Amino acid sequence: MNKRLKKIADSISKGSVIVDIGSDHAYLLKYLFDNGIVEKSYATEIAKGPYEVCKKNLQGYDSEVFLMSGIKGFNEGVDTAVIAGMGAFTIIDILKDSIEKFRSIEKIILQPMQNIYDLRIWLFQNDFRIVKENYIFDNKHYCILEVQSGKSQEYDFLLGSENIVYDEEYKSYLKNELRLRENLVKKVPSERKKHIMDEINRLSERIISLKY
Ligand SMILES: C[S@@+](CC[C@H](N)C(=O)[O-])C[C@H]1O[C@@H](n2cnc3c(N)ncnc32)[C@H](O)[C@@H]1O
Repeated sequence: MNKRLKKIADSISKGSVIVDIGSDHAYLLKYLFDNGIVEKSYATEIAKGPYEVCKKNLQGYDSEVFLMSGIKGFNEGVDTAVIAGMGAFTIIDILKDSIEKFRSIEKIILQPMQNIYDLRIWLFQNDFRIVKENYIFDNKHYCILEVQSGKSQEYDFLLGSENIVYDEEYKSYLKNELRLRENLVKKVPSERKKHIMDEINRLSERIISLKY
């Protein structure tokens, strides 16, 4: 299993009952079963092909697979939900579609492929707090957010929440964000330069402030 999914698996508590939304190949669930972390799980898939693959790969495990969008129409009791490997706007749509159900789930793990900034804003404005924010490099940088229903203090949507795991992976993520903006600022029209320069300064300050 790749480092990204392994990092997500590390966030799942032993004995959890989990729904993996957009499970696709079900590698995450298989790993959780094979390592004795879960004994019962659910998976949902919006697309027929991945749904069939998911069902096939979970044969012999105590797992139910549903062909549906997000958890609309899903009424099983779970304490953990995972939405991983999708764009932030797809994740937001899934959360919005079943917002009250998500409020009752103890732990929600989100791993957006891009637009992390927009996801952080949406979570803040809709009263989902980030209780843990982790980074991992696996050919590219990934952010893994552990969230639950509840208000939080306003935080920096560019640099991350107040619950970041401060490690080399986070620093390396920031350096990459900085590099992207340093390249971008040369190409954008002058009215956008100020905003990007401001982000470059904030990213640089945060990197310098990390004493490791
Ligand atoms: C790139 S795969 C990620 C698979 C796995 N979660 C991972 O992180 O490796 C994204 C999967 O999400 C599914 N998907 C996209 N939107 C969905 C939705 N609204 N509800 C359920 N599944 C969805 C897609 O069909 C696809 O199989």
